[in-house]
Amino acid sequence: MSIFLVTGGAGFIGSAFVRTLLNAYPDASVINIDALTYAGSMANLEGLDRQRHRFLHGDICDRDTVLKAIPENCDAVFNFAAESHVDRSLDSADKFIRTNVLGTQVLLDAVREKRVRRFIQISTDEVMGSLSENTEELFTESSPLRPNSPYAASKAAAEMLVRAAVVSHGVDAVITRSGNNYGPRQFPEKLIPLVIKNALDERPLPIYGDGMNVRDWIHVDDNCRAVLLAYEKGRSGETYNIGAGCQKRNLDVVRFILKEMNKPESLIEFVTDRPGHDRRYATDPNKAETELGWKPEIIWENGIKQTTAWYVDKWNKKRPLKK
Ligand SMILES: NC(=O)c1ccc[n+]([C@@H]2O[C@H](COP(=O)([O-])OP(=O)(O)OC[C@H]3O[C@@H](n4cnc5c(N)ncnc54)[C@H](O)[C@@H]3O)[C@@H](O)[C@H]2O)c1
Repeated sequence: MSIFLVTGGAGFIGSAFVRTLLNAYPDASVINIDALTYAGSMANLEGLDRQRHRFLHGDICDRDTVLKAIPENCDAVFNFAAESHVDRSLDSADKFIRTNVLGTQVLLDAVREKRVRRFIQISTDEVMGSLSENTEELFTESSPLRPNSPYAASKAAAEMLVRAAVVSHGVDAVITRSGNNYGPRQFPEKLIPLVIKNALDERPLPIYGDGMNVRDWIHVDDNCRAVLLAYEKGRSGETYNIGAGCQKRNLDVVRFILKEMNKPESLIEFVTDRPGHDRRYATDPNKAETELGWKPEIIWENGIKQTTAWYVDKWNKKRPLKK
């Protein structure tokens, strides 16, 4: 019987991953530690089997809490806990450094002390900075780290701490870096749920700059399968870029959703660009595909339609009925 610890499992990707893990390992139990910041919600955990999933309200920066949370004979710690919104990191980086950097080190120390078998660090393609829109270039695992926001810098720092723990202390650890995830249960400050929420209320949809920034979108369930495969098959000390080959301009994403919702494009409002806004992200998934046997399964058109329908349904249920 396997036993796992997931951090940040009340957030968007972490809660999807808890489901992936419980489905993939029917005998396993999962301990889920989350500080329930504004981005975490117990509603994201509704319907999970209480016999096999235990939630702990706690902070990954608190050493004693983390040591108590890690069970004996723990098979793996999956670190999803993070401050994750670039805009907030531009306003103030403090919480990003605390959770994303210090929190990762606290976990790595605890993993050593409790002799956890594997540590999986969930990172982002944003650590590699920005690609030009005029090239076909893709990020690979040997691309240099060139983070451009405090958020990306904090995630890059966490990757360096994981590397140091592998080299200096023999911790068995793997890093995954995905592109932008989409799917149910994302906090509506991120582009896709924000657009759907505002469009439902026929409020303006703020789009940074010219809307031509390109992101490499991946359905959250495809990313969760990649994280699981990285745990099962990844080589210690290695990083795996998880790209679904789905490059889309922000403006095209917004237009697609508006069409799906039958709402007018006149709701789009271009706003002053984010400082240091990365132009394009795109990752080469070759290493993950060959070494982990991973391939994305959810095609964009289906995934985004289902995702839009999920949010519309959720928010429509909360709206007062029109007389
Ligand atoms: N969302 C994306 O598109 C994306 C892409 C690539 C990588 N990532 C990475 O994936 C991970 C999960 O991202 P997400 O989008 O689900 O984020 P999220 O903001 O939805 O969730 C983060 C979770 O971490 C919890 N948390 C924050 N600080 C904590 C602390 N100190 N201790 C314990 N829990 C804490 C929050 O309560 C929340 O539940 C992050 O590490 C992020 O950097 C996200």
